Amino acid sequence: MEIKKVNSRDLKKIVKLEQNIFKKNAISKDLMEKLIQNNTFFLKLEIGKIRKQIIGFIIGIRDIKERVNIVNFLIKPKFQNKGYGSYLLQKAIEEVKKLAEIKKIVLNVQISNSTAIKLYEKFNFKRDPTILENYYQSGESAYLYRLLIN
Ligand SMILES: CC(C)(COP(=O)(O)OP(=O)(O)OC[C@H]1O[C@@H](n2cnc3c(N)ncnc32)[C@H](O)[C@@H]1OP(=O)(O)O)[C@@H](O)C(=O)NCCC(=O)NCCS
Repeated sequence: MEIKKVNSRDLKKIVKLEQNIFKKNAISKDLMEKLIQNNTFFLKLEIGKIRKQIIGFIIGIRDIKERVNIVNFLIKPKFQNKGYGSYLLQKAIEEVKKLAEIKKIVLNVQISNSTAIKLYEKFNFKRDPTILENYYQSGESAYLYRLLIN
């Protein structure tokens, strides 16, 4: 198992995973291509020695000077709940901590996504009291979570 930077050769596989998991709310291929070119981190988790398989990825964007926004994060369903998500999120947090002047990591999560919420709370992310109504394409609302970086 390895964590590596995503490159443009991974685009097709990444988009397929994204669509399988997020359906209507999936990031488009065009935007994904841009994110591969321009990101603060875009990490993939790969398994297998010869036939490598991407089983998850996480994307972070420094959208303002002191903040990184995790804009996408997933683990392939067959591999969920085995600790891979925690491993990838931990690595992403470590990457952010290497950057100067960052004060926090933020992310949005569907209010119904209890699995992801549990994971973020395990990592000490705190929920903002405001609910972002109608945040997703699907019409679902989002919570904003933040982790302060010292
Ligand atoms: C959210 C996601 C990335 C977590 O990845 P994962 O590999 O399953 O996470 P882990 O195995 O490290 O589990 C982390 C924690 O999540 C919770 N969790 C994971 N799977 C769960 C399940 N099926 N039911 C309840 N809680 C679950 C647990 O609290 C777990 O911590 P613990 O094992 O210490 O109790 C993954 O479920 C996923 O890709 N979901 C679909 C996409 C998504 O929702 N992305 C986040 C968008 S904001």
